[in-house]
Amino acid sequence: MELKDHIAEPLQAAERELDRWINDAGAGGDLAGSLKAAMRYATLGGGKRLRPLLVWHVCSTAGGDPHRTLPAAAAVELVHAFSLVHDDLPAMDDDDLRRGRPTLHVHAGEAMAILAGDALFSLAYDALARGYNDAALSRSLIVELARGSAGMISGQVFDSLPEADPRPEGLEALERIHRNKTGALITAACRMGALCAENDAAVEPAGRFGQAIGLMFQAVDDLLDVEQPPERTGKRTGKDADAGKLTYPGLLGVAETRNAIDQLRAAANKAASEIGPDASTLVSITEYLAARDR
Ligand code: IPE
Ligand code: IPE
Ligand code: MG
Ligand code: MG
Ligand code: MG
Repeated sequence: MELKDHIAEPLQAAERELDRWINDAGAGGDLAGSLKAAMRYATLGGGKRLRPLLVWHVCSTAGGDPHRTLPAAAAVELVHAFSLVHDDLPAMDDDDLRRGRPTLHVHAGEAMAILAGDALFSLAYDALARGYNDAALSRSLIVELARGSAGMISGQVFDSLPEADPRPEGLEALERIHRNKTGALITAACRMGALCAENDAAVEPAGRFGQAIGLMFQAVDDLLDVEQPPERTGKRTGKDADAGKLTYPGLLGVAETRNAIDQLRAAANKAASEIGPDASTLVSITEYLAARDR
């Protein structure tokens, strides 16, 4: 089977699950209709859904029933959607294009974008709390996502406010940014997949797998900013250097960035093989992510 045959079901299931949770947001309360519309705009109808796919396939590689991952998969994607809305704000990267459409603050105003981000973040934890009957699983997923979210937010601080904290030099500084701003949530997604499989031995290699592909994913994202047009990526490109961002191609050049991607790909594939006996889908996902152009 090709990769596309392994991703059709989880992609569809994740889309439905996100729709369900957003519909249900603020259930029993008085959630503003405009807020729900903004949450839908930011979350549905676009995005590669990489993080839900990872939760699903790590769970199934670790021997679990992937259908069980759906609230967890939605929760990670909700945090991701929140992170993109805030990442695009004028105070952050100041972007006007996301997933081929105007960013939420352009579409609905800056105040609404800030508030919709807040609401998506809290809905993620609602999904973990109410999406599982197993209280111990729910708790461990909440702890995992909170750790990933805190890492992502710290990474945004390292990326956007480089003078705010003492920082290492060169590659170490770059890796600290990327490991946090992008790697932490991808690592959480992978570990959450192993937790849903209730396979304790798989959690550590799942985390190592996530760290390697998370770093690789952002290295490729940095390359896309240099090499691809916005029509391809659905977001503005050619911006990182002007914004003074510390990036892989900025620090190492394009050829060395490709070498780094190859090394991370190999590390990811090695860790994947320790998650379960048949890691072929995780390996295919890794290969796709290393070569992606959008
Ligand atoms: C973009 O993430 C931001 C980064 C962490 C690099 P994705 O490339 O996963 O964005 P979508 O969800 O597919 O739009
Ligand atoms: C985004 O990094 C990381 C998070 C959203 C946490 P970037 O700023 O490089 O992502 P894009 O390029 O805007 O998608
Ligand atoms: Mg950014
Ligand atoms: Mg950005
Ligand atoms: Mg980028």
